Amino acid sequence: MIWSNRVDANLAANRLTTTIAALRAKGRPIIDLTLSNPTVADFKYPPGLLNALGHTRGLVYRPEPFGLREAREAVAADYERRGVSVSASRIVLTASTSEAYSLLFKVLCDPGADILVPRPSYPLLDHLARLDAVHTRFYDLEYLQRWGVDFASLERTISPAARAIVVVSPNNPTGSRIRRLELDRLDRFAREHDAAVIVDEVFVDYDLANGTGTEAAVPLQGESSSLLFSLGGLSKSIGLPQAKLAWIAVNGPPGLVDQALARLEFAADAYLSVSTPVQEAAADLLAAGGVVREQIQERVADNYRHLVQSVPETSGCTVLGADGGWYAVLRVPAIAPEEDLVLALLEGDGVLTHPGYFFDFQSGAHVVISLLPAPEPFREGAARLIRHFACTHDGA
Ligand SMILES: Cc1ncc(COP(=O)(O)O)c(C=O)c1O
Repeated sequence: MIWSNRVDANLAANRLTTTIAALRAKGRPIIDLTLSNPTVADFKYPPGLLNALGHTRGLVYRPEPFGLREAREAVAADYERRGVSVSASRIVLTASTSEAYSLLFKVLCDPGADILVPRPSYPLLDHLARLDAVHTRFYDLEYLQRWGVDFASLERTISPAARAIVVVSPNNPTGSRIRRLELDRLDRFAREHDAAVIVDEVFVDYDLANGTGTEAAVPLQGESSSLLFSLGGLSKSIGLPQAKLAWIAVNGPPGLVDQALARLEFAADAYLSVSTPVQEAAADLLAAGGVVREQIQERVADNYRHLVQSVPETSGCTVLGADGGWYAVLRVPAIAPEEDLVLALLEGDGVLTHPGYFFDFQSGAHVVISLLPAPEPFREGAARLIRHFACTHDGA
């Protein structure tokens, strides 16, 4: 049988996955500092939150490629909550952000075209691109007290086949928000190279650095000189990944926006994948879900603050600066390959973390942890992690 190479031929579990399975099979307790599912992280969801999904309006199917007008208006109103103005007519609903990427790749890229993706960043991007027969090329983020775009690497990476430049803001896992000047420069760069800009803003609501968010909000009002797509969704904005509702907001020169919307309409019409009940419920979910967002915001900010305060300068670990999102990056002593470091921490101290290479860090040794876990396991896991690396550091 000959298979498509959009799916890697090697689907074997990696060492970390097999070790976790073995430890769980033995009943060993593990503190999971990779937890990224908010629905099992001890937040208080309003018990009636999903009632809106049962509305009788949902019994009538009204197929609309971009989604129901009311739902698109609810998303526009949610942008307004953050002080960003966008017309509902420029909002396209999708079932997830992953699906939003897929639709954009379909309308922007022929098979084999390039998209430029930040490094380090969200590992799924590479898989999503490959599943759509698109090629990823990496431009670097560099860390100089904070993470920023390395424009020289962007210049080196751009190719005539490039159709889009992806920005994740706040980025997973670095937590960096794209700065106004960076975005302006990227916008001009993309325009010069006839590429679009895709800004993944799923974590936009979550601040780790006391309110830099609105300053760095991506403009959807007024003209960007390139075609600019902003992505968001309920999975992070109100902690409801199972609701399966996300969106794309389109901005740019009006002629290009119209062409993009016409193509997106064609592609979305072929799938019509967003369920009617979730569209009917969108306004209510966005309104009532705010209380979940507030809890997540408080949790991630508290956990990040605790982490920063509890890492002594002499420990050999450094918590890297982050603006927002759900993750923290620690630079750790590079005494072994990252996978070995993470396995030693897991097997020796029962703490699960992500090795930096999952996210393509280019130098040094890093571990990435989620800021979502409840305070008690988070603090215990962080304490063990710091002790662990302090010992390895002393022994090095
Ligand atoms: C940067 C980023 N974008 C998108 C997603 C996925 O969002 P969705 O559940 O809407 O597909 C994630 C999930 O972790 C993410 O980290």
